[in-house]
Amino acid sequence: MEEINLITRTTGLAMSVTLSYIDKGDTVIDATCGAGQDTVALANAAGRDGCVYAFDIQEEAIRRTKDRLRENGLSNVRVLKESFTSVNDFVPEGSASAAVFNLGYLPGGDHSITTTADETLEGLACALRTLRPGGILTVVMYDGHDEGRTEKQRVMEWAKALDPKQYHAAYVNMLNQRSDPPEILWITKKKNGVRPR
Ligand SMILES: C[S@@+](CC[C@H](N)C(=O)[O-])C[C@H]1O[C@@H](n2cnc3c(N)ncnc32)[C@H](O)[C@@H]1O
Repeated sequence: MEEINLITRTTGLAMSVTLSYIDKGDTVIDATCGAGQDTVALANAAGRDGCVYAFDIQEEAIRRTKDRLRENGLSNVRVLKESFTSVNDFVPEGSASAAVFNLGYLPGGDHSITTTADETLEGLACALRTLRPGGILTVVMYDGHDEGRTEKQRVMEWAKALDPKQYHAAYVNMLNQRSDPPEILWITKKKNGVRPR
């Protein structure tokens, strides 16, 4: 049996919390589908009656995600070659139970195509609008490269400034690892100013 040790796998921890907010039939957003790993996990959680909107700006990511979905027999995903800044053109406001941003560049792909601070901040604000009360926005951030460092700082400033009556923000960092492991930000939209779940 596979060993379960979530704090050694940051992306697994980020996804595990996210999945606990998703029920069958839900609408979910994968803002940066990349190789499709997160998309598959989200699509399984949303189930046949749910829908995942998966965004990425590069053709290679779209191809890899579609391949992975096919291999996993999943057909409840709309894979869109669009920026996450256009999420409001596709996903109705207040409808999504979860939105996931896994920032940076595509592993095994072109490292010059990376999320950028300005676009990410715009995309996060758009995604927040699509969340239903009680929904969660998950951001996985990498500060091991120059753009990622700036991006993380600005995302953290943005999250700290969110209205505490409307949102609850939490942040996790691995304290003693050397290889710049990813860091996690979770934001949940409160239900009528009451803490959700
Ligand atoms: C770290 S990878 C995502 C990994 C993916 N979640 C997975 O499970 O394999 C980051 C992705 O963000 C994409 N990206 C960069 N800017 C974007 C934007 N404005 N909108 C959507 N995707 C973007 C990149 O093309 C890259 O594929």
